[in-house]
Amino acid sequence: MFAVSDFSDMTFAERKAIVTGGASGIGKATALRLAELGADVVVSDIDEPGGAHVAEQIGGRFAMLDVGDPEAWDRVVAAFGPFDMAFLNAGIATNPGLPPAPGVPIADLTDEAYRRIMGVNVDGVVYGTRAVLAGMTDQGAGDIVVTASMAGLGPIAMDPVYGLTKHAVVGFVRSMAAALDQLPDGPDVCISAICPGFTDTNIIGDGAREFVAELGLEIMPADRVAQVVARTIAERPQGGQWVIWPGTEPRLYEWNPPIEV
Ligand SMILES: NC(=O)c1ccc[n+]([C@@H]2O[C@H](COP(=O)([O-])OP(=O)(O)OC[C@H]3O[C@@H](n4cnc5c(N)ncnc54)[C@H](O)[C@@H]3O)[C@@H](O)[C@H]2O)c1
Repeated sequence: MFAVSDFSDMTFAERKAIVTGGASGIGKATALRLAELGADVVVSDIDEPGGAHVAEQIGGRFAMLDVGDPEAWDRVVAAFGPFDMAFLNAGIATNPGLPPAPGVPIADLTDEAYRRIMGVNVDGVVYGTRAVLAGMTDQGAGDIVVTASMAGLGPIAMDPVYGLTKHAVVGFVRSMAAALDQLPDGPDVCISAICPGFTDTNIIGDGAREFVAELGLEIMPADRVAQVVARTIAERPQGGQWVIWPGTEPRLYEWNPPIEV
């Protein structure tokens, strides 16, 4: 892959980043990686002890933030912003802990579970982008990276609503990129998405681990994904979607130009 020395210090040094879902998994690994590269990192999460611990590890600060709450975003941006980089990463599965089944019947989906996952995985990315973009626009530049998933590019039978949310954020990233691209004199803001396969974090329950093993697939360490987050911030592929899969180099899908009608 690539090493820390592959990136110019200027890309990260003295630039302020916010990481959502930074208490654990991919968010934690990315907070560590960005701090290692010299960024000033604000670790945010609803898990206060976990997030505060990560912030302490990297000499950063912790912000309590439920990504699905727009007023909480306003408070965090007012207290800690503006941000040069935002890693909009917090996410959940529809039914945490549920053993995967080939196709979850929609009849079993509770309204509460549906609203919960849409609030974190979709609202969290839209509110987060809106909240950080204002400061990036004032500053003239910024980088936004959204955690989607391979489930945002293809089907995921074990959790169709999760697949819905991840397709939604891929569509959002591509459309935001197109919108930013239409502003040649606008702020130099880049938005891109990462689309990891199975990664070794708390979101994967024991049932899912067995299922993944039965499929003969590997589970990647979270640090591998964190390296691609750093890479996309350094390389700035507007609207790009990084496919991150065990055993292969990360691959970049570019956003398609809008269809001319
Ligand atoms: N682990 C995988 O296999 C995998 C693969 C592809 C994509 N992803 C995505 O990666 C992202 C990170 O997940 P992870 O795998 O590191 O899991 P994780 O459970 O380890 O981390 C998720 C973090 O998000 C936080 N969180 C949950 N709800 C929140 C809310 N409302 N506001 C703020 N924070 C909240 C949790 O407290 C936790 O710290 C998610 O978007 C997930 O969908 C994971």
